[in-house]
Amino acid sequence: MNDVHVIAETADQARLGERMAMYTQNALKIGLFGPNCSSGRAVTMVPERWTGNWQDNLALARMADEAGIEFMLPVGRWKGYGGDTDYMGTTLETITWATGLLAKTKRLIVFGTVHAPLFHPIIAAKQFVTADHVSHGRFGLNIVVGWNEDEFQMFGVTQRDHDARYDYAQDWIEAVKMAWGPSEDFDFNGKFIKLAKVRAKPKPFGGTRPLIMNAGASAAGRAFAIKNCDAFFTQASRISMEETQQRVIAAKEDARSQGRELDVYTVGVVTCRRTQKEAEEYYHYATIENGDWSAVDGILRKKNISVATVGEEEFKRQRHHYAHGMGGLLMVGDPDRIAQILADLSRAGVRGIGFSFVNYLKELPFFCDEVLPRLERMGIRAKRPS
Ligand SMILES: Cc1cc2nc3c(=O)[nH]c(=O)nc-3n(C[C@H](O)[C@H](O)[C@H](O)COP(=O)(O)O)c2cc1C
Repeated sequence: MNDVHVIAETADQARLGERMAMYTQNALKIGLFGPNCSSGRAVTMVPERWTGNWQDNLALARMADEAGIEFMLPVGRWKGYGGDTDYMGTTLETITWATGLLAKTKRLIVFGTVHAPLFHPIIAAKQFVTADHVSHGRFGLNIVVGWNEDEFQMFGVTQRDHDARYDYAQDWIEAVKMAWGPSEDFDFNGKFIKLAKVRAKPKPFGGTRPLIMNAGASAAGRAFAIKNCDAFFTQASRISMEETQQRVIAAKEDARSQGRELDVYTVGVVTCRRTQKEAEEYYHYATIENGDWSAVDGILRKKNISVATVGEEEFKRQRHHYAHGMGGLLMVGDPDRIAQILADLSRAGVRGIGFSFVNYLKELPFFCDEVLPRLERMGIRAKRPS
């Protein structure tokens, strides 16, 4: 717990720093992204694709906890994307999923991914506090504002214009923070949210608050993360690590200019096998030959990405991009190659990465046996807990 990089002036800041370090000394935090959904982030038809069921999630969380993996990050999804597999058609609701996993693990941080416009902030704040008490301070909050019209219709909620979604989320997070803060009784008078005579106790565990993250990609989304969050998830550059480094530096500097500390994370998709050739063959088999291309095309339609809107070249690139885990850094290789990419990200200033496998439970042991020791030898991660 010494890796507290925040210059802590108060005990509360120090405790928040420990949460930001995810209670480990590792320079690069590692997490699993998307296992609460069927197929995870692999739009594939292979029979070994991820079930997303509770038993597999629980086994995965226990395995990750034992191995010293820092976090699990779910996808907040309400409706599948169709296709042959109804990609992400079966999902476990993320706050209850997180609370269950936290109760059964000892070290892992587990995030809940919450659509601000769909959850009442006071109920949500109380759910987060409950998960935080269950886990002695290991709950994290991923705020999303939503984008999928289909999902909003299902709740009878009208989506606001893009940037106004973040204006609403600003009110929402301020109301949540009020409920977590020192006042037990308060009124809240935001632009969108007005609450009278709120009573909120208990407070989060340990005199601080849960870690907050966001992954906005637009200017409004990025500004929201810089103003309100501890962790900003952003895409690593497809061009170079130098470009990734520039993005990290810029986000951290923008946060510091507002008197805040911000960690920058990224996401990816890992196919790691004993040899480079094996990894490439499996990637090709699962993602290209057996991709659920009708689901991929459904996702592209929802996002209004077509030859007509983006041109043929970009459409092809996006189609490929959405087939492998709906985006993120593609890492296909033997353990040396995967360890090298992760080490490069760390050197670029990235604080952590959440990634997915086709089948998390089957693939995580090889990753832990082969890649983690390499990262330890490279000084990126400390020895795992025994
Ligand atoms: C790591 C990560 C996790 C995300 N999780 C979700 C999610 O669970 N549900 C969702 O609707 N959007 C999710 N998103 C989408 C973002 O919240 C965001 O809406 C998207 O990056 C577009 O940015 P913008 O909202 O600034 O336009 C995620 C994105 C990333 C990179």
